[in-house]
Amino acid sequence: MQSLYRWRAPVYDLELAAFEPLRRLAIDSLGLQPGQCVLDLGCGTGLSLGLLRQAVGPQGRVTGVEQCPAMAERARAKIQAHGKAWRNTEVLLTPAAQVEWPADLPPADAALFHFTHDVLQSPAALDRTLAVLRPGAQVVALGLCWAPPWQWASNAFVLGAALHSMSSLDDLACPWRGLAARLQQHRISRHWMDSIYLLQGQV
Ligand SMILES: C[S@@+](CC[C@H](N)C(=O)[O-])C[C@H]1O[C@@H](n2cnc3c(N)ncnc32)[C@H](O)[C@@H]1O
Repeated sequence: MQSLYRWRAPVYDLELAAFEPLRRLAIDSLGLQPGQCVLDLGCGTGLSLGLLRQAVGPQGRVTGVEQCPAMAERARAKIQAHGKAWRNTEVLLTPAAQVEWPADLPPADAALFHFTHDVLQSPAALDRTLAVLRPGAQVVALGLCWAPPWQWASNAFVLGAALHSMSSLDDLACPWRGLAARLQQHRISRHWMDSIYLLQGQV
């Protein structure tokens, strides 16, 4: 899977342009407040970092987590391009299951899983990332899922996009299952003719 993203990295931002309204919806759904600390799991090329940073402001903190060096390099280039203004934004190059949280920092207030099917299917990644969130932290996950079988056009879209972006199609009917089981409460809404789910929940 890392090799897929190594090749996709140079064109990734263009490929994702059509999904920007969903990204905004997901980030708005986090309900971030100025000064909060938010994690962006599987942050890719850092397309969410600017909106997250805008939501938490200069006193907040944005931490991307990305395991593919080619994707992380692009995310870090976005941060560097903004100079000191984005000094509260960083990208950790690591699998989500091995996130090291600095001992001097309080636990994070929120986490975003945006098109991160592989992260959601890894119990170790979920356990580790939820361990660095405070009780009551907001969690939002958005991604592809199977629509009901009669929505064949939606499912053709999901299949094409999934083959292009995830290591397995496992649990595409309910990709949020593992995350939801670890949360205190959650709710699901469906978008784009049921091909996209949005989970909002609390640790
Ligand atoms: C489809 S991209 C989504 C990127 C970004 N969240 C966005 O919305 O543009 C999925 C990203 O998750 C990363 N990823 C997959 N499994 C991961 C893991 N276990 N730990 C960290 N990153 C992971 C991939 O390398 C890829 O960059």
